[in-house]
Amino acid sequence: MTTIDPAMAPRAPAPDVRDNVMAIASGKGGVGKTWFAITLSHALSKRGQNVLLFDGDLGLANIDIQLGLMPDHDLGSVVAGKLTLNQAANRYDMGGFDVIAGRSGSGSLANIPPSRLQLVAEDLGLLARDYDRVILDLGAGVEKAVRQLAAAAQTILVVTSDEPTALTDAYAFIKINCIERPQTDIRIVVNAANSTREGERTYSTLLKACQGFLRISPPLAGVVRRDTRVRESIRNQTPLLTRYPNSEAALDVEALADRLLAE
Ligand SMILES: Nc1ncnc2c1ncn2[C@@H]1O[C@H](COP(=O)(O)OP(=O)(O)OP(=O)(O)O)[C@@H](O)[C@H]1O
Ligand SMILES: [Mg+2]
Repeated sequence: MTTIDPAMAPRAPAPDVRDNVMAIASGKGGVGKTWFAITLSHALSKRGQNVLLFDGDLGLANIDIQLGLMPDHDLGSVVAGKLTLNQAANRYDMGGFDVIAGRSGSGSLANIPPSRLQLVAEDLGLLARDYDRVILDLGAGVEKAVRQLAAAAQTILVVTSDEPTALTDAYAFIKINCIERPQTDIRIVVNAANSTREGERTYSTLLKACQGFLRISPPLAGVVRRDTRVRESIRNQTPLLTRYPNSEAALDVEALADRLLAE
């Protein structure tokens, strides 16, 4: 009779710690990623989720500025080896979620070596176990550091506006990701749309390109309408969902969060 050495027995696959990490990406800058990442984190925490918002914009980290946070710790201290990633989390009381700010006292993290960034991405995967959801705000563009961090996420929400350059850059991001990590769950967010209908048309333009050239059909996560109160709430460093809970953009992000949690 043969006995099976327990060490050789097939093991259950390790739980994928990145399942609950969702990255917010774009191609083009300024399409509303950071604002959307903050507002989605807020909407999820309002629904009882334990959320971590991670500022992964290594060049121009600015979550802390939009929130009016004066973080005690930031990613710079982690990269410098002074803190572990979990020690760098700050509580953002107004939103009810934790934030790892990206701004380092010594300036940008744009030149962080890839090996160091890899460790940060791995630590983020481990830290994600302590949260229901981790929202990862990425920098604009498709360069390696952005893609390396994006790889920490199972799901990527690609944010675009209706501007042709935003659409072509979103497509470029999706294409590179599709080649490098075809298993990623990519979804589209159309932000600052003139109307829900127009946003859906923008989505279908991008969808056609993805279907025609990449043979993929990323679903629409949601349309967020253009709303003057977004700028106003950022200027006041008060979350939109607190300041203008019934504004169109607030309702759109709340509905998007509901759909995410209904999955
Ligand atoms: N739905 C919206 N309606 C109106 N204005 C918006 C909306 N979403 C974002 N904005 C405006 O767009 C500006 C840029 O937003 P944000 O900084 O979040 O973009 P970003 O994609 O993170 O930029 P970057 O690529 O530089 O990181 C904000 O100052 C805000 O005023
Ligand atoms: Mg940003």
